[in-house]
Amino acid sequence: MNGVRSVTTNQDSIHKDLEKTVRKYARTQYMRPIALHTQEAFEQAREKILTWAGQSDIASIPVVLDSGCGTGESTVHLARRFPDCAVLGIDKSEVRIGKSGDPSHAGPEGIPANAFWIRAELLDFWRLVLDDHWDVRYHAVFYPNPWPKQSECTRRFHMHPIFPTMMQLAPVTELRTNWEIYAQEFRGAVGILGEESKTIPELASLRGIRAELSTLQPDSPETAFERKYAAAGQSLWRVMVNR
Ligand SMILES: C[S@@+](CC[C@H](N)C(=O)[O-])C[C@H]1O[C@@H](n2cnc3c(N)ncnc32)[C@H](O)[C@@H]1O
Repeated sequence: MNGVRSVTTNQDSIHKDLEKTVRKYARTQYMRPIALHTQEAFEQAREKILTWAGQSDIASIPVVLDSGCGTGESTVHLARRFPDCAVLGIDKSEVRIGKSGDPSHAGPEGIPANAFWIRAELLDFWRLVLDDHWDVRYHAVFYPNPWPKQSECTRRFHMHPIFPTMMQLAPVTELRTNWEIYAQEFRGAVGILGEESKTIPELASLRGIRAELSTLQPDSPETAFERKYAAAGQSLWRVMVNR
């Protein structure tokens, strides 16, 4: 894992284009066609959740999303924390998601029955979840790829056209990062989107959205990257978004 080093960046504060980018994407719809493999993964995940709940209406099942779950350790923690929810870890990396559900992640209690994993592209998966009206109660986004070069900024979730969709998924979103500027930008992007939502009918559900930034000192790391960062003595940040 090459994530142990601190983030190397040519940016020393919030990206100069943050505001105009978030405002632009608040007013446009992200239209990239859904990849077939993610559509199929979505159907599989949906089926797993319905089977676990013994129900036929996906909108009536409380769900937690663990987006970019990597090897899926955080999904196990979240499944214990939200025992009444189906907790779904999603990652596009075949290698990382292939390690999910490993009994070594769970200890003697074993892998919780409400923890599931699926390999998928988040940019597509999130749109499918929103269109299908899932009842997502909590959205964990732990240590997303930071894309720290200024020229890569539109690959950061909060400067990407997917951001309005991402923020509409759940009433609570928790972002964790080892790059303070990413956390500051994310918090700022939430504020800008909240302003835009006042005049955009499609974003009405985001009126009143707010974000709080704090440092994070986990007693025991909940993800593989968090463990590496903690061992390297790095500072960690959390942004809690509520709407
Ligand atoms: C830095 S790792 C963090 C993994 C895990 N959350 C952890 O803390 O150990 C970021 C993860 O996000 C996944 N990822 C990044 N962009 C993604 C996307 N668009 N769709 C699905 N997974 C993505 C990567 O494959 C990678 O496993």
